[in-house]
Amino acid sequence: MTAPARSAPPIRWIKGALFVLCLLPAGRLAWAAATGDFGPNPVEFVQRWTGTWTFNMLLITLCVTPLRVITGQPWLARLRRMLGLFAFFYGVLHFLSFIGFDHAFAVDDIARDILKRPFITIGFAAFVLLIPLALTSNQWAIRRLGGRRWQELHRSVYLIGILAAVHYFWLVKATALMWPLAYSIILALLLAWRVRERRRKGLVAPPAPGAIVKPVRFMPRKP
Ligand code: HEM
Repeated sequence: MTAPARSAPPIRWIKGALFVLCLLPAGRLAWAAATGDFGPNPVEFVQRWTGTWTFNMLLITLCVTPLRVITGQPWLARLRRMLGLFAFFYGVLHFLSFIGFDHAFAVDDIARDILKRPFITIGFAAFVLLIPLALTSNQWAIRRLGGRRWQELHRSVYLIGILAAVHYFWLVKATALMWPLAYSIILALLLAWRVRERRRKGLVAPPAPGAIVKPVRFMPRKP
């Protein structure tokens, strides 16, 4: 007797539910705009909210692969693109809140501030690096770039995470280091998992010059 086929999870429903969930932080902003419920400092509220959600979505996106491997659920990979695009979406809102509220879209002022304040420079670098990832997050780009080059490009998401952590540490006061520290620990754990996984698959760094390397034989020798 054959085992009953395991039904595939209803991915369209899961994606739909996740889409709505990811929109909730933006909904909170829309609610605040409609009711004026921004708290005592509206600009600070919007900048912090959008910055926090950019970082949250970045970390949630980075959790997908470990979760997929650990649980053995391949369909989880199909959620990664949407989550990554939401990280970019909140990044755009965050950047817009900075150029709009702080500088009234005056390009000279924006450029001067990006060059003058190191925490802004670093946040800006993270944002700029997110752009090619968002632009190439589709099947067409994967086909054009080829799987390996696409993967190499998308590995920069870890650099983006590190820049985001530095940006966060830099902007908070010495008394409020708990949150940037918590985000950095999560990022470090995700990075460590990725490094261990690469080692496990044998994708280690090339050997040091002079080292004796034995060829690995995958196929039996020809008779
Ligand atoms: C991947 C990109 C970025 C991430 C993940 C990020 C993350 C964050 C986080 C977590 C906060 C602090 C939230 C809090 O205090 O609760 C923040 C604040 C801020 N970020 Fe970013 N950021 C990014 C890019 C940028 C860019 C491109 C700019 C401007 C060019 C920028 C400017 C600011 C400003 C002005 C604040 C508010 C500082 C304050 O309240 O004193 N960030 N960001």
